[in-house]
Amino acid sequence: MKILVTGGAGFIGGNFVHYMVNKYPEDEIVNLDLLTYAGNLETLKPVEDKPNYRFVRGDIADRTFIFDLFEKEQFDVVINFAAESHVDRSITGPQIFVQTNVLGTTTLLDASRAFGVKRYHQVSTDEVYGDLPLDRPDLFFTEETPLHTSSPYSSSKASADLFVLAYHRTFGLPVTVSRCSNNYGPYQFPEKLIPLMIARALADEKLPVYGEGLNVRDWLHVYDHCVAIDLIVRNGKVGEVYNIGGHNERTNIEVVKTILKALGKPESLIEHVEDRKGHDRRYAIDPQKLENELGWKPVYTFDSGIPETIQWYLDNREWWEHIISGEYQDYFKEMYGEKLQ
Ligand code: NAD
Ligand code: DAU
Repeated sequence: MKILVTGGAGFIGGNFVHYMVNKYPEDEIVNLDLLTYAGNLETLKPVEDKPNYRFVRGDIADRTFIFDLFEKEQFDVVINFAAESHVDRSITGPQIFVQTNVLGTTTLLDASRAFGVKRYHQVSTDEVYGDLPLDRPDLFFTEETPLHTSSPYSSSKASADLFVLAYHRTFGLPVTVSRCSNNYGPYQFPEKLIPLMIARALADEKLPVYGEGLNVRDWLHVYDHCVAIDLIVRNGKVGEVYNIGGHNERTNIEVVKTILKALGKPESLIEHVEDRKGHDRRYAIDPQKLENELGWKPVYTFDSGIPETIQWYLDNREWWEHIISGEYQDYFKEMYGEKLQ
């Protein structure tokens, strides 16, 4: 099979490329990424010389480029991770979220239709369901929960989901959609809560916790997300949505304190700062459909995954220190400068 993975130089896409290239040597994995601020080819170093892997630089919203690529490559499967993914950035600049997350997705859908792609998978998020109240621990997001978004980011992702499902109903495109909770693990860009707090704590810098820090997120190790997507693409029912999550709810302040304890740093580093605008209170996924239909079970709990993840950031300081210093942007020029624009 020839599989197009978009956004494979980002956090989850990068982990997915590692997983697929190693697990399926007979499949051909093409990684298409624009290399925005969030894309980093250093993440792909462990696989860049594998014979079943290739990198292509490009924009999923560039119609001419995408149609040319699909015509040339004749992909069997398209898995779309590429997105603007950071909620805070969507509050300061929503437009690029519409451009990439909505127009980029519809461009990929049109090309998938035009060139007979056999499966289009959309990597979506639990944020499309909005949030749950903090005083109702009995409530969870199911696939039937109405979409009810809070941020420009989640609105762009929900819009993309609706287009994906509409292309199935209207044109019969064979699609699946997965909606996952918050991920953590290796290679996460240090603007997101966990790597940001690890990097700042190691530098003895203040840790900015929004508001009281009582908002709840449902944390899933990125490895378990990758396994779930692979299962859905291979065995999931066309036209269906699958929620992905492992029942690992934590308040933000608990997460930050866990990191400080593991690093032997004092809680006095915590600084409560102004809350995020429209801040979703609680996310919590009910993953029963995925478990019952496809037999998925996460390998990690938060308690087993977080020490391993903190250790990864300690062992791979170069990777995130390059990002913080901006050096990773030079890696592309060094690697591909003469081959690509
Ligand atoms: P990320 O920001 O780390 O990576 C996004 C990647 O997409 C980057 O490599 C970037 O260069 C690339 N990209 C951006 N615009 C592009 C464009 N126009 N064309 C081609 N490539 C482009 O994001 P992530 O955290 O890895 O998230 C990946 C996907 O998973 C996103 O769709 C996100 O909505 C979804 N998701 C993320 C989480 C999470 O906790 N991080 C949870 C659930 C779902
Ligand atoms: O739920 C899935 C979503 O998880 C994905 O769709 C998004 O792409 C991903 O970014 C993530 O969104 P969040 O907004 O939940 O993640 P973030 O790491 O930005 O924040 C996690 C929580 O921590 C949130 O309640 C805000 C809070 N926070 C975040 C930062 C960056 C802080 O308190 N301080 C911070 O500095």
